[in-house]
Amino acid sequence: MPSVRPDLRATALRLAYDDRIVVDGLDLAIPTGKVTAIVGANACGKSTLLRALARLLTPKGGAVHLDGRDVHAIPTRVLAQRLGILPQSPVAPEGLTVIDLVGRGRSPHQTWWRQWSAADEEAVHEALRATALTGLAHRAVDELSGGQRQRAWIAMAVAQGTPVMLLDEPTTYLDLAHQIDVLDLVADLNRQQGRTVVMVLHDLNQAARYADHLVAMKAGRIAAEGDPADVVTAELVEDVFGLRCVIGQCPVSGMPLVVPIGRHHAETDAVPVSGTTTG
Ligand SMILES: Nc1ncnc2c1ncn2[C@@H]1O[C@H](COP(=O)(O)OP(=O)(O)OP(=O)(O)O)[C@@H](O)[C@H]1O
Ligand SMILES: [Mg+2]
Repeated sequence: MPSVRPDLRATALRLAYDDRIVVDGLDLAIPTGKVTAIVGANACGKSTLLRALARLLTPKGGAVHLDGRDVHAIPTRVLAQRLGILPQSPVAPEGLTVIDLVGRGRSPHQTWWRQWSAADEEAVHEALRATALTGLAHRAVDELSGGQRQRAWIAMAVAQGTPVMLLDEPTTYLDLAHQIDVLDLVADLNRQQGRTVVMVLHDLNQAARYADHLVAMKAGRIAAEGDPADVVTAELVEDVFGLRCVIGQCPVSGMPLVVPIGRHHAETDAVPVSGTTTG
C-alpha cells in the first residue's frame, strides 16, 4: 500500500438526479484505516453517496475531498490508483472472462511504456485466490451464477490494490458462507494491508460485527454514526427502518444483535437462549 494514508471526506454534500435532491447537507469523514459500513432503508441514498465519493456523480453542492483535493480536480488515473469502487449492479462486457475482468483492475497501474508486469500478474492471481475463483478464471463472467459473478467483481476491486475501497452491497447474491468469506476478506484487507473500506450492507448484524464505524442513513441524511456498539439500538432501527426489534448480544462477537419482531410475534414471546451457558 502507498505510504500516504488516504483522507476521504464529504462536506455539505448535495446530490440530485436532475432537480430531485437525494442527499442534502451531508458531512462525512471516512475514518482512515478502518472499515465503515453504511446502512439504511432502500432508496435512502446509500449508493448515491458512494457514487459521489467515487466521483461517479457530480455534486450539486458541497464537495468530496480525497487527500485534501476536490476529487473532481484529481486526474482519473491518479484517482483510480487511490480509490476503487464496486458498484451495486455492475455489468461486464459480453464474453469477458473472469481473469480479464480482474486484470482490468490493474489498468490504473499501467502506462504506455509498461503495459503488463509481474506485479500485475501476481495481483490478479492473488485476487482470484482470495475470492476462490482460480478454478473459474477462464469462464465468461456473464455465464456465472449471481454469487460467482459478484465475487469476480470483488476480485477486480481487490486486484486494483487501492488504499480506499468502496463496496456497494458486496454480499448481495452470496450464500451465507460466501457472505462471511467476503466480509472476512474485507477484514483481512483492512487489517493486513491497512486498506480503508466503506461498504453498504443491508444485514445490520453483519454491519455491527464487521464495521469499526457505522453510518445509518435516513432520507439522504445521516441519522446516526459511530461505534456500532453505540449506534445499533432498538430506537435507531425503528427510526431508520420503521422496524420494531429486540436487541440481543451476538454470542460470537459480543456486538448488538438485531432480532426483528414482525407482526406475528410480540416482544414478550422472546425465549431465553439455551445451550449457550458459559458457566
Ligand atoms: N440514475 C438515477 N436517476 C434518477 N434517480 C435515481 C437514480 N439512481 C437513484 N435514483 C433515486 O435516488 C434515490 C436514492 O437511490 P439510491 O440508489 O442512492 O438508494 P439506496 O439507498 O442505495 O437504495 P437500495 O438499498 O435500494 O440500493 C431513490 O429515490 C432512487 O430512485
Ligand atoms: Mg443502493
